[in-house]
Amino acid sequence: MSSLTGKESSRHLKTEPPNLMKTIDSAGYAHVKVPISYDEFESLSRQLGAIVYRTDLHITDGRKSVVYKSEEIGFHMDNPNVHIIGWYCVRQDESDGSSMLVDTCDIERYLSPSEMAILQTIDLKCPHPLLHDPDAGKEAFFLTPLLSWKHSVPQIYFADWLLLDSYDEKQANALDKFKDYLRQKQERGLITVRLKEKEGLFINNRRLLHGRGQIGRNSSRLIRRVWITDPQDKW
Ligand SMILES: [Fe+2]
Repeated sequence: MSSLTGKESSRHLKTEPPNLMKTIDSAGYAHVKVPISYDEFESLSRQLGAIVYRTDLHITDGRKSVVYKSEEIGFHMDNPNVHIIGWYCVRQDESDGSSMLVDTCDIERYLSPSEMAILQTIDLKCPHPLLHDPDAGKEAFFLTPLLSWKHSVPQIYFADWLLLDSYDEKQANALDKFKDYLRQKQERGLITVRLKEKEGLFINNRRLLHGRGQIGRNSSRLIRRVWITDPQDKW
């Protein structure tokens, strides 16, 4: 079972963070269904690692990032230095607002070792969390490979709109295969979580891609997001 429900997500969870981490480690994500306050959510988040960034996600006129707009958000990963993303629902969209997740845990079954090796050479742009500021017309990117390894576990970083303009033939072929894999996963293994007020969702950002369908133009949806790093990693 991939979400913490009923007994699993009862109040004892907050005093036993290993249960939450275990769920994230095994399923790739954890849906905290017991209503909690934002302070409780932060305290859970801190037990998973270091909170390095907080963002309130809601429709905001004049802001350029898609996270402040009502339109659909395609599948992607956030900053590759973020181990876990946490979302806390203050208000959900009236019609939907679900988070859609794709788990890449079985990528090695779909791509050959040689294709996996090529993915390690495919760089994507990553917006610098402090210097990149589209609202001020400032662009600042660094490059990160689509695939790297940590303790023999694949670490994926992907967003279609952050690919470079061109890749060589071998890279383009491996990229096509990776995109096919994502399409198949979306068709056959899509995970949908519609957070209710006061619920939380944590995902492993290097394993699961996330996206969101279109929400109402005047939606009052408000999700508070935290970026959590592995204390052993540098931010
Ligand atoms: Fe995101």
